[in-house]
Amino acid sequence: MVADGILLRVKGLTKKFPGVVALDGVDIEARAGEIHGICGENGAGKSTLIKMLTGAHTPDSGTIEFDGVTYTALDPRRAMAIGIGCIYQELNLIPHLSVAENIFLGREIYLSDSLNILDRAQMNAKAAELLADIDLNVSPRARLGTLGVGHQQMIEICRAIWSNAKLIIMDEPTSSLSEKEAHDLFRVMARMKERGVAILFISHRLDEIRANCDTVTVMRDGRTIESFAMKERSVDNIIQLMVGRNIQNKYPKERAAHGDVVLSVRNLNRKGVLHDINFELRAGEVLGFAGLVGAGRTETARAITGADPFDSGTIEVFGKEVKIRQPLDSINAGIAFLTENRKEQGLILIQSVAFNATIVKMHKYGKAGWLSLKGIRETARKICAEMRLKTSGMDMLVGKLSGGNQQKVVIAKWLLSNAKIFIFDEPTRGIDVGAKVEVYKLINQLVAGGAGVIIICSEMEEVMGMADRILVMHEGEITGEMTQEEATQERIMYAASGFKQAS
Ligand SMILES: Nc1ncnc2c1ncn2[C@@H]1O[C@H](COP(=O)(O)OP(=O)(O)OP(=O)(O)O)[C@@H](O)[C@H]1O
Ligand SMILES: [Mg+2]
Repeated sequence: MVADGILLRVKGLTKKFPGVVALDGVDIEARAGEIHGICGENGAGKSTLIKMLTGAHTPDSGTIEFDGVTYTALDPRRAMAIGIGCIYQELNLIPHLSVAENIFLGREIYLSDSLNILDRAQMNAKAAELLADIDLNVSPRARLGTLGVGHQQMIEICRAIWSNAKLIIMDEPTSSLSEKEAHDLFRVMARMKERGVAILFISHRLDEIRANCDTVTVMRDGRTIESFAMKERSVDNIIQLMVGRNIQNKYPKERAAHGDVVLSVRNLNRKGVLHDINFELRAGEVLGFAGLVGAGRTETARAITGADPFDSGTIEVFGKEVKIRQPLDSINAGIAFLTENRKEQGLILIQSVAFNATIVKMHKYGKAGWLSLKGIRETARKICAEMRLKTSGMDMLVGKLSGGNQQKVVIAKWLLSNAKIFIFDEPTRGIDVGAKVEVYKLINQLVAGGAGVIIICSEMEEVMGMADRILVMHEGEITGEMTQEEATQERIMYAASGFKQAS
């Protein structure tokens, strides 16, 4: 380690992609034994910086000094060898191998140097030690694929510990974790830190940054704006640095007049998943679904939109029963569903922004759509501009956008459809604070125009800030209902834990 405790020192790192300067002279320093948060708007260059450190990409210029040695570029093997570990959001593990096999993947223990035979007993024993070390109650022999995402991430951390990583990088690790899993992760991070490991932690959840980071660096437009000790700044201050302006009202809710019932779901059942789901949604209303991860909210949305089958129940749109057997049926009935897992379900990564944004519309109007394609593209452009989509143009491939910007394209796509009922599953996951406000304003516009909107959110503040009425689910059942005025965190938590409230 360098004398002043600085483990990593990045200087003037630059990376250009066709049409985009992703990094424009980035400087950042991380000390051993600190959790260093990196914040910035979508497309600010956070993931690109990480990719330089893990050797996934080569910088155009600049230097990376690590553990006293200066590099102009790293490759994945070298990065790992010198002690840089990374927990990617898309996990790099192999589901059909065991936990132990995954931990030692590429660095297996052999019976002897000359024999090419794995020492499974020792690998399992060592894995058990590593797992116990981070208080993870999982068998080394368990198949990885049987574990939840949170535990799989912990296995990645075991890998990093085993490789003696001095720096562990995490790019939005909590975005798909439940609150409890995230909590476990923070506990393990704190332990790593005590041992002198440096952690780079990227998140759009500023409350997590505040609670867990010692130091924070804010990036904007491919540059590092400022680094400071977390305790010296407020979250509002970070927001100001990130987006370059003040955000007065994080939840700019505007109430619309409520009209007729647009969607009515009665006695919806799916064995073992959904139990007697009943609710109505009115024109002009924002209905929030709260609950813990796995409570059945996404499953309800998937049943209503034909993504999953259901056993019994009826769905009425504008007072008329509709038979929904596949997604197309729900699209034709005027229901738009913005899925939680956008990469898998929402976008065609090898197509352009314009194509993805207009795909629903083209589908709906068939050949006639060609006539107004120009108009649609114009509207797509407008919505993307409102959400501050960062792209080199409407023809850029969606797969090359930053994570958060891909999500904005999905939102644009559905906003362009003529739907009257919108179901948004975690609409602002992975989206920066500034763009969140724009998404909320678009929701305001939708309900002002007479649409009914359902938002499924795990963030309590968001659902309380934006929904007129909140339904709470627990284990496939609706366990609570309250208006925005009645809602408190305690009341939602109570119902989310399975206690039914007396209405
Ligand atoms: N392979 C690539 N080709 C072209 N442009 C790219 C490529 N990878 C990233 N970019 C661009 O570089 C910029 C920075 O992207 P990056 O993924 O680093 O942002 P980010 O800060 O991680 O954002 P987010 O919060 O949305 O994840 C974006 O404008 C992005 O479109
Ligand atoms: Mg990113």
